[in-house]
Amino acid sequence: MTARKFDITEQVLKSMKPANARFGVVMSALVRHLHDFVREVELEEAELMAAIEFLTKAGQICTAKRQEFVLLSDTLGVSILVDAINNRLPESATQQTVLGPYYWKGAPELPMGSDLARGVIGEPCFYSGTMLTLDDGPIEGAVLDIWSGDGEGNYDMQLGSDEMRARGRLATGPDGKYWFRSIKPFYYPVPTDGPVGSMLAAMGRHPNRPRHIHFIVSASGYKSIVTHLFPSDGPYLDSDVVFGVKQGLIVDFKRHEPGMAPTGEQVDVPFWTCEYDFRLVRGEQRAA
Ligand SMILES: [Fe+2]
Repeated sequence: MTARKFDITEQVLKSMKPANARFGVVMSALVRHLHDFVREVELEEAELMAAIEFLTKAGQICTAKRQEFVLLSDTLGVSILVDAINNRLPESATQQTVLGPYYWKGAPELPMGSDLARGVIGEPCFYSGTMLTLDDGPIEGAVLDIWSGDGEGNYDMQLGSDEMRARGRLATGPDGKYWFRSIKPFYYPVPTDGPVGSMLAAMGRHPNRPRHIHFIVSASGYKSIVTHLFPSDGPYLDSDVVFGVKQGLIVDFKRHEPGMAPTGEQVDVPFWTCEYDFRLVRGEQRAA
């Protein structure tokens, strides 16, 4: 009697009758890599149980405003890798980065020049620039969906607020220009009270993100982009816990003594300005 070849990976792959070709490609690769991983580390039974408990806890801690699996994907570098594969933009275009867990759909539509902070703590900052095509033409009707934490790095939803803070949507006019007031963003740790926080600690990693303000920029006839701007000062630019920093998104914020802001308003404390021109690629607009 000939010995029967017992290859569990082959058996799993053969058992599949995928619903569609792409699902078959993804699942068969997942099974092969997962089995190779288990073989490489010779996974112990207790380690498998620990992994199952980790994923169970990740699911249990998720709420409408807390997404531990996004955090897991971000902190393992998977989100930014998927972005890199799916958004190969020309070098001269504004680059994408991670969405992050604090996007809140439906920010108020505000007139250009508005103060998004509206009393949120933090150093005042005046943002301005132009929405441009890759050949430097202005883009009319581009919408900036903007959000950031406060000057201590806390987002409204983390503070249990039902009211949006430091968020807003602005649309450009024929000259493509945008300008608004908010605060200079602060660095902050990602949530560390869940299983991802424990994972980071066990890996010997800090949980911090550098200072940044978020944007989703969209315009009819152009590819929408999810991105940040990072002030060039402050810690963690070279060790962002979600690997979201890209050189072209780092901006020198300029500090000013109290006085007249670019909007013409008088500011009685030191303030900052940030100038950045967004460059969009023609193409299909994705739903934000
Ligand atoms: Fe953020």
